[in-house]
Amino acid sequence: PRGTARTDDGAVTIGGVAVDELADTYGTPLFVYDERDFRSRCADMQASFGPHGRVHYASKAFLSMEVARWVQSEGLSLDVCTGGELAIALRAGFPAERIAMHGNNKDETELDFALESQIGHIVVDSMIEIERLDRLAGARGVVADVLIRVTPGVEAHTHEFISTAHEDQKFGFALAAVAGSGAGGTYRDSKAMQAVRAVFASTNLRLVGLHSHIGSQIFEIDGFELAAHRVLGLLAEVVAEFGLEKTRQIEVLDLGGGLGISYIPSEDPPAVADLASSLVDIVRRESERLGLPMPTIAVEPGRAIAGPAGVTLYRVGTIKDVALDGAATRRYVSVDGGMSDNIRTVLYDAEYDVRLANRVSDAEAVVCRVVGKHCESGDIVVRDCWLPADLTPGDMLVVGATGAYCYSMSSRYNMAPRAAVAVVAEGASRLMLRRETVEDFLSLEVDS
Ligand code: LLP
Repeated sequence: PRGTARTDDGAVTIGGVAVDELADTYGTPLFVYDERDFRSRCADMQASFGPHGRVHYASKAFLSMEVARWVQSEGLSLDVCTGGELAIALRAGFPAERIAMHGNNKDETELDFALESQIGHIVVDSMIEIERLDRLAGARGVVADVLIRVTPGVEAHTHEFISTAHEDQKFGFALAAVAGSGAGGTYRDSKAMQAVRAVFASTNLRLVGLHSHIGSQIFEIDGFELAAHRVLGLLAEVVAEFGLEKTRQIEVLDLGGGLGISYIPSEDPPAVADLASSLVDIVRRESERLGLPMPTIAVEPGRAIAGPAGVTLYRVGTIKDVALDGAATRRYVSVDGGMSDNIRTVLYDAEYDVRLANRVSDAEAVVCRVVGKHCESGDIVVRDCWLPADLTPGDMLVVGATGAYCYSMSSRYNMAPRAAVAVVAEGASRLMLRRETVEDFLSLEVDS
């Protein structure tokens, strides 16, 4: 977070609170969120897109009732993709009309919950879902606002598992012409256009926008620009087929999330303001050319808001030097968490910046691997890093930029209780989510 510093005796402080105090109060492993940092990233995002923008925080990155309230009070909207995320948001009092729901396989209960709660809109992802939602809305006697998720065929340069707009994956309706249609260069014969026709032909759905999400942890703005061009190309096709009057109800162009953050010092993500001004320009130019009013440009950042606002604190338990081929050794530093609180290193080869947190050391730095306490050798938190040679059990490590997709992807592997989450603000700390206990595990046992 932006408010990270050191005390006089060398302990890292986050939002003005020293890590040893946090560890004493809440234990480790501990996630710590800097409220001011999280909020200011919300505000920056909102300000960058200005009056043409609508920023949905992607709650999958990290959600709790308190986080939902931060997002709400900063004036953002919220993305959810399951009934669980929707339930937390509503319980926190998040205004339903500012919530959008995503997902390639929302079940009937989730769709019906969304309709019942009267959320702002639902992003439809398949023909089956269009029919399903039409029927469910009809049964409730309501008309549901929907966006169509299109797959613009942009290869985002990121890990395969989090890249979503190339053709061969599960999300959305392809913009590419259906094979054999012969419609070179137009979207007339695309799955996306078929979806537009299906929604227009439905009784209980209203098409209010088009949506694309090209992937996550993206560093190049041109992928977003290309996606915007292609989605606008589809809009032009809608105008050609259905006329200006009918196309006017498509008032939202949602370009998804995906803006990258810096996990290690050498990474330099693009500025939000640059992304915003470029997208606003493209959309303004193209909608003017089509004779359409300027649509609202929606974006759905998760990582760029939550990621840098959170860190993880661990305590070192054991240290071991392991001989490698030749004379080299590798120092394995085991901490009290691991792949249960951060699966990203194992899953995506993610890199992190790790520092000695409770003191400063003059000792020379040695190459280390920070590993967890789980029963497999792939349980790595930071694959290669430099830590001082005098590191000892009981020292604390802080891993930066763990605010997104760490707690939210955490597991109970080896019955490790989920870590606690604390908040720092104005030089004070408080608990946001308590640490899980064995009693929590036992409460699920039918036969206890
Ligand atoms: N909108 C949609 C439709 C999405 O699928 C996602 C992320 C977002 C927005 C937010 O993307 P962001 O701004 O956070 O990049 N677990 C992976 C990331 C998966 C992202 C899935 N969808 C990771 O830890 O890197």
